[in-house]
Amino acid sequence: MKLLNLLLKDITPKIEYYSRFSPSPMSIKQFLDFGRENACEKTAYMFLKKELAVRLANTMREVTLLPGNLLSQPSVQLVQSWYSQSFEELLECENRIMSHNILIQIRNRHNDVVPTMAQGVIEYKEKFGFDPFISSNVQYFLDRFYTSRISFRMLINQHTLLFGDGINPAPPKHIGGIDPNCNVVEVVRDAYETAKMLCEQYYTRAPELQIKEFNSKKPNKPIQVVYVPSHLFHMLFELFKNSMRATVELHENSLEGLPPVKALVTLGKEDLSIKISDQGGGVPLRKIDRLFNYMYSTAPTPRLNSSQTAAPLAGFGYGLPISRLYARYFQGDLNLYSMEGVGTHAVIYLKALSSESFERLPVFNKSAWRHYQLGPEADDWSNPSSDPCDASKQTATLV
Ligand SMILES: Nc1ncnc2c1ncn2[C@@H]1O[C@H](COP(=O)(O)OP(=O)(O)OP(=O)(O)O)[C@@H](O)[C@H]1O
Ligand SMILES: [Mg+2]
Repeated sequence: MKLLNLLLKDITPKIEYYSRFSPSPMSIKQFLDFGRENACEKTAYMFLKKELAVRLANTMREVTLLPGNLLSQPSVQLVQSWYSQSFEELLECENRIMSHNILIQIRNRHNDVVPTMAQGVIEYKEKFGFDPFISSNVQYFLDRFYTSRISFRMLINQHTLLFGDGINPAPPKHIGGIDPNCNVVEVVRDAYETAKMLCEQYYTRAPELQIKEFNSKKPNKPIQVVYVPSHLFHMLFELFKNSMRATVELHENSLEGLPPVKALVTLGKEDLSIKISDQGGGVPLRKIDRLFNYMYSTAPTPRLNSSQTAAPLAGFGYGLPISRLYARYFQGDLNLYSMEGVGTHAVIYLKALSSESFERLPVFNKSAWRHYQLGPEADDWSNPSSDPCDASKQTATLV
């Protein structure tokens, strides 16, 4: 850890310098324009270099506001060392051109950030238990931290795909990682098929898929969107895995066939919505928020790097929270509507227009800082389980 401290000391003024800039959110349309009109690698590169430094520095400043007991967990230290090293490599190239190899090296260094941070949260929980105040700070932090990671991967991928050496070219007609004519139903099918394969490996069977689409802009035409297909695939794959698992497990002992999973894809003026519905028994309303909580999830703990014969359909419990971050990253959202006892509808909302799909990025500023400082507040709604005598005491002190 001494080495890490040394590193941090050296780069601290630069982290402070770059963190004073706010990240510049790009719209999908702007990402496309970067790639299309006689794309100038030098302009794109100058933007990228500064923007990566700004986004990393904003994140690195925010990490230090986490509770000390969490920061000191070995996995969290490891992640911090990756950030320091990447930031240093960016600084080394402040006055010279950075090779694509370095960019890719930076991106790959951060491949395991999510499971490693999850491990850090588990280490913390094992030692210090669950604390609602810490949990709400960790939730706030990880949502921002992972969004920032999604965003710098997006920047690096766009750059290396657009100006790469052609060794790993973007698929034809894609602009970097963006498909200007992304056929949504095709991605739904792909994600379903991949989840189905896993499900059959694990449970020997999987529910069927029924798809419907309603294009209110161009009736009877396939719904297309300008989007990053890999992000859409990621969200849908997670939703299908969850729906399949719930369906198969609920109907484990039934002799009848499994109820199908249904997908409804709709396009309006503003929103493109995708609803995945199952009859897997649902989740009570009281628990819905928890499904998106990083500190509640993580059970049972999967081992990192374990060689499993069949990939299970459930792991860290990060499927939903991370998918929601992908949806929100370009101003969309992901919500779960469950009818307990019957099943669940999960809805992904995307912006229909690429000019409205701006990156939603965390900014390290005073109000972010304040979030971490505020102590736990007294509940300002009645609590059904509280002792009536206590409640009368509280009102007595108020009047
Ligand atoms: N469609 C669904 N029906 C019933 N329960 C669901 C559904 N979707 C999610 N859940 C519940 O929410 C929990 C959290 O889902 P999430 O996808 O975030 O994590 P996970 O599936 O446990 O693990 P992984 O990280 O592999 O996705 C699940 O473990 C499951 O209990
Ligand atoms: Mg899941």
